[in-house]
Amino acid sequence: MNPLLSRLQPYPFERLRQLHADITPNPAFTPISLGIGEPRHPTPQLIKNAMIAGLDGLASYPGTLGVPKLRQTIADWLGRRYNLEVDPASQILPVNGTREALFALAQTALDPSKPGACVVCPNPFYQIYEGSALLGGAQTWFVPSDAARNFAVDWAGVPHDVWARTQLVFVCTPGNPAGAVMGLSEWKLLFELSDQHGFVIASDECYSEIYFRDEPPLGGLQAAAQLGRKGFKNLVAMTSLSKRSNVPGLRSGFVAGDANIIQSFLLYRTYHGSAMSTVVQAASIAAWADEEHVIDNRAMYREKFARVTPLLEEVLEVALPDAGFYLWAKIPPAFAGSDEAFSCELLAAYNVVVLPGSYLARTGEGANEQPNPGAGRIRMALVAETAECVEAAERIVQFIQTRN
Ligand SMILES: Cc1ncc(COP(=O)(O)O)c(C=O)c1O
Repeated sequence: MNPLLSRLQPYPFERLRQLHADITPNPAFTPISLGIGEPRHPTPQLIKNAMIAGLDGLASYPGTLGVPKLRQTIADWLGRRYNLEVDPASQILPVNGTREALFALAQTALDPSKPGACVVCPNPFYQIYEGSALLGGAQTWFVPSDAARNFAVDWAGVPHDVWARTQLVFVCTPGNPAGAVMGLSEWKLLFELSDQHGFVIASDECYSEIYFRDEPPLGGLQAAAQLGRKGFKNLVAMTSLSKRSNVPGLRSGFVAGDANIIQSFLLYRTYHGSAMSTVVQAASIAAWADEEHVIDNRAMYREKFARVTPLLEEVLEVALPDAGFYLWAKIPPAFAGSDEAFSCELLAAYNVVVLPGSYLARTGEGANEQPNPGAGRIRMALVAETAECVEAAERIVQFIQTRN
């Protein structure tokens, strides 16, 4: 067996299941889960219709590059959304969601034969980054993003000798769990470091269309263009339809950026066998071409966050994020910093599931020593309908008021 498999950590939801295994939730309340970040708004009919109309595609093998119309539709979307010119022939590749692309990219971008090969990840982070680094034969270096910096990642705090052996950097903007969007000056710093040390930047932007400020979040490719960089050197951005269009089950997204990386990734993916079904491609073309449903979807999240956030602000240190669909709250002092205790007691008393923040982050070890930046926090995914999220918030308010 591959010995690297033993380096993988249990997934946060597996840890949550074990944590809650012996708890009997209060039967007086209906169960509400704010645990998993899976979109639950309805899938737009136009996507379902396009999928049905595309069923004939099942009779042939799809190509790994995807059909030209899909890549052109994605290029058009990048043009409208970010004012970018991206070449659909050489700078775009369809992927089956960002999750698999984040994982697979390491197989292309990493050279584990170099001593100390390192992947730099934000902390807290989406756990696939870590698995992708470890199974790619690299070490991880976690960079804290905590409340003191308004959840910006402390890229400037990474030691020079770590950058020198870094091959891949994962960026998550808007971030999961805190929803922070990376600004142009942070991008400038990362690009300079990448130019100096030659590492690849993979920007995970799957929450980019769910935002609460007037201005849409800056994208990595957009930042590169605004800084006058040509050809997106050493940069790829990836996103998906999962959150934008409420189709996590479709498994559809894309990677765009540096044509050299895309070319190598295409080669890797040909062998990996990760071509997107043409039926999914047909549905994806319809989804990327339409913006109305995305505007409606965003409006639903905005209304929900506008109702829920003020309720929780009364009892928790929490604020409306820049973007995303999570609230990332600090638990009250009565819990002595134990996010696990908060989660267990809330489930037992009020039948509401929240994810302990420490499950989404790591305590830095050795030279990367740092406290777990998720400890003492909880993540609440506001993915259910508004009424259910408001009900959950009211229960959390009651829970904290009676506990304090
Ligand atoms: C930060 C982040 N990246 C990537 C993903 C994967 O999404 P998908 O594979 O559906 O695009 C998720 C899913 O929750 C996520 O939170």
